[in-house]
Amino acid sequence: MALVSAKEMLEKARDGKYAVGQFNINNLEWTKSILQTAEELKSPVILGVSEGAGKYMTGFKTVAAMVKAMIECLNITVPVALHLDHGTYEGCYKCIEAGFSSIMFDGSHFPIDENVAKTKELVAVCKKLGLSLEAEVGAIGGEEDGVIGKGECADPEECKKIADLGVTMLAAGIGNIHGKYPADWPGLSFETLAAVKAKVGNMPLVLHGGTGIPTDMIKKAISLGVAKINVNTECQLSFQAATRKYIEEGKDLQGKGFDPRKLLAPGAQAIKDTVKEKMEIFGSIGKA
Ligand code: 13P
Repeated sequence: MALVSAKEMLEKARDGKYAVGQFNINNLEWTKSILQTAEELKSPVILGVSEGAGKYMTGFKTVAAMVKAMIECLNITVPVALHLDHGTYEGCYKCIEAGFSSIMFDGSHFPIDENVAKTKELVAVCKKLGLSLEAEVGAIGGEEDGVIGKGECADPEECKKIADLGVTMLAAGIGNIHGKYPADWPGLSFETLAAVKAKVGNMPLVLHGGTGIPTDMIKKAISLGVAKINVNTECQLSFQAATRKYIEEGKDLQGKGFDPRKLLAPGAQAIKDTVKEKMEIFGSIGKA
């Protein structure tokens, strides 16, 4: 199956009261693990690529070519969207050119009028090409690729302004942050989420910072209109722990020579386990 826009899968998720996971990819092993798990569990999936990860993988063109070839070679039949995560204005155009099927323009750090102007322009481009577009209002806290936000709560009026431009999905800050949540984190602001939902109506909402949010909060967020949940740190943590264990047990030194495929295998399995666990919580299994 060719790459698809995230529009249809998110509208289905919104109507069916579940969420599609966006799992960020950083290399071939992660990509393969996520695609195989989605196929095995018959779940739609979104592969997220940050600008930093795109650069690491030698550019968005390489990423798009790898993902498209992998979908074909692994016989992936479930819907897969390849999505730019927290894109800059310039990054959005690079991904459009490279063949991504979905982009996020993160204009949350611009004054609202500039965020509106740039988003409006990208809405027109994406509509013409059949791509989905995610916009953000209210910076998501934590650090991602050097971008640091404090975990703001979005202004529902500003959310409406951006939603009315015709974006496909909207990431509204509701106190969520990237990375691990601090011990004194007050939790998601469901008051903000409900107020945003009341303003933007049917627009599928996106929850960033999916690592470490308690399951009951995830389920409540889904019941209030969240249809896409982003996960990155949790995959990093499980990949790291599995790789570390393998090395600490000295298994990388057994046998003849050094085989990087063996070294990365436990981490790849850990990613599969994490993705499965998340898909179970998000309710997307069997929804492809
Ligand atoms: P985590 O790294 O906290 O899982 O968040 C991922 C994310 O929101 C990517 O945009």
